[in-house]
Amino acid sequence: MDIVRLQNLKNQAISNILESKSEKDLEQIRIEYLGRHGEITQLISKLPSLKPEKRKDFGLLLNETKKTIEEAIKNQSAILHHRSLGKDEGWFDITLPGLKPPQGHLHLITYAIEEITNIFEKIGFNCIAYPEVEWDWYAFEGLNMPKNHPARDEWETFFIKDLSHPKYGEAVLTPQTSSGQLREMERVGQPPIRMLNIAKCHRRQIDTSHAPMFYQFEGLVIDKNVNITHLKGTLDYFVKQYFGPKKESRIRPFHFQFTEPSFEVDVTCVVCGGRGCKVCKQGWMELGGAGMVHPQVLKNGGIDPTKYTGFAFGWGVERVLMMKYKIDDIRLLFGSDLRFLQQF
Ligand code: FA5
Repeated sequence: MDIVRLQNLKNQAISNILESKSEKDLEQIRIEYLGRHGEITQLISKLPSLKPEKRKDFGLLLNETKKTIEEAIKNQSAILHHRSLGKDEGWFDITLPGLKPPQGHLHLITYAIEEITNIFEKIGFNCIAYPEVEWDWYAFEGLNMPKNHPARDEWETFFIKDLSHPKYGEAVLTPQTSSGQLREMERVGQPPIRMLNIAKCHRRQIDTSHAPMFYQFEGLVIDKNVNITHLKGTLDYFVKQYFGPKKESRIRPFHFQFTEPSFEVDVTCVVCGGRGCKVCKQGWMELGGAGMVHPQVLKNGGIDPTKYTGFAFGWGVERVLMMKYKIDDIRLLFGSDLRFLQQF
């Protein structure tokens, strides 16, 4: 059970309480949530099995939820009592404690960003959000994609009309968080660099697994003697932490202009269990790209490639969420359908 689910459980309980019409209904709700086998009671009994660092925060939240539900039952009981005495609906006792309205919760993309940030912070990454409106140099030119290079087509970019920088070129809605690589090299100056850039990206794409606006998280590590095993180890660490110890990942050779060698990283598709479906490629879902930072990109960022090496990876936040919760259409994440959102 995570925090979002607990929040939903609380909202559901409060709305049931507010809709209850009799003491009998109320008692039924109390048993459902707070009774010996009630949902909250069961969660409380599972607290000792949680990791100590999670136990305290989750315990506090559970207690608060329990108190809120108890209070709401008490208030509703008082209201039902007055109604039963024949007081009219407009009667209002100002001495009664107020009823807390049901609360919403953060969007699941926001929760995913928090979770991903925590996972990388634990291994020393510095988390940052670079701009979603970017100059051509950072998005393309400085990443080995000069003007008119065919590799640019891949990024299906939105250009901003009549806005350009004398040195850095035209303005674009950044199509990839890799634009943050050069910005971080400029900001930090000299390695070591351990960056996680989580930011919005835009591309002219829309289907079940592509949105015109989406989030990516980009890792960049530069230091002496950084090699491909560090990249693979970091990606495996993330996959196990985020999806659980049984999740499998694979890297496939690929080509990016700004890394050499380059890979794409896939995990087994949870929607079809690896059999192949409309969301994945033959049972594998692509989560992102990765590779060793190209020496020219290091030079463009003011770093000496004869002394330092680095790796980078860029993954879609919505894609990892889809794989975690079996969401078979990315557009659900950007609609405002409460029937979908309240399940999380
Ligand atoms: C890139 O964007 C590279 N910048 C990744 C990279 C970073 C390579 C660092 C090497 C080093 P790609 O276009 O494959 O690569 O996108 C990466 C991931 O972003 C995809 O696998 C997917 O998870 C997500 N993504 C891409 N386009 C969309 C979209 N339109 N909607 C949702 N997610 C998307």
